[in-house]
Amino acid sequence: MQVAYPRGKTPPVRKLPVETRVAGVVDLVSVLACDPLASAGDADRETAIASAVHDARCRIGLVEGAVAGFAVTSPRSFFGRDFVDLLVVAVSQRRGGVGRSLLRAVLAAATSRTVWTSTNRSNAAMRALLADEDWEFSGELAGLDDGDPELFFFARVRSERP
Ligand SMILES: CC(C)(COP(=O)(O)OP(=O)(O)OC[C@H]1O[C@@H](n2cnc3c(N)ncnc32)[C@H](O)[C@@H]1OP(=O)(O)O)[C@@H](O)C(=O)NCCC(=O)NCCS
Repeated sequence: MQVAYPRGKTPPVRKLPVETRVAGVVDLVSVLACDPLASAGDADRETAIASAVHDARCRIGLVEGAVAGFAVTSPRSFFGRDFVDLLVVAVSQRRGGVGRSLLRAVLAAATSRTVWTSTNRSNAAMRALLADEDWEFSGELAGLDDGDPELFFFARVRSERP
């Protein structure tokens, strides 16, 4: 993922049940509303999310029936492995378990034996989530964002786990 986010400071909130499913075109407005960059008028970001929804590559997390976050995945795009391009939870819903539920839904629907993602070193919230979900650190790549390396992680799908 190439977008740098500020260090996460969100405190834990009361956990409500999270449902996940593939987003349909009807969900697009709600999906975009979850994303601070698209909401702020980033047209490239909006186009990328819309394209993922149209291609059925976007999963949504719903809390009390409302879209609270989404994950965009590109199957087999990273050395033949699925890659999570984007994982975003609405600011008001963070620390409610939506990100965790989406990562688990992505793994449950994986088309490769490992699923990969990346995040900036500065993204404390994403790194904490990946660590809590036992994603393994693979390595880091400098040069994409000045002074903020991209860290790569992977998770093994259930059938490969001991
Ligand atoms: C990263 C992000 C997706 C996490 O989603 P989330 O729904 O808030 O995460 P969850 O509630 O599922 O967190 C599960 C666990 O991860 C860890 N965690 C998540 N966010 C954390 C934070 N801000 N600080 C510390 N730990 C955190 C905690 O262990 C948490 O469990 P707990 O709440 O029981 O302590 C969310 O912060 C977000 O949308 N950030 C902006 C977009 C982004 O940076 N995406 C990643 C790169 S594309």
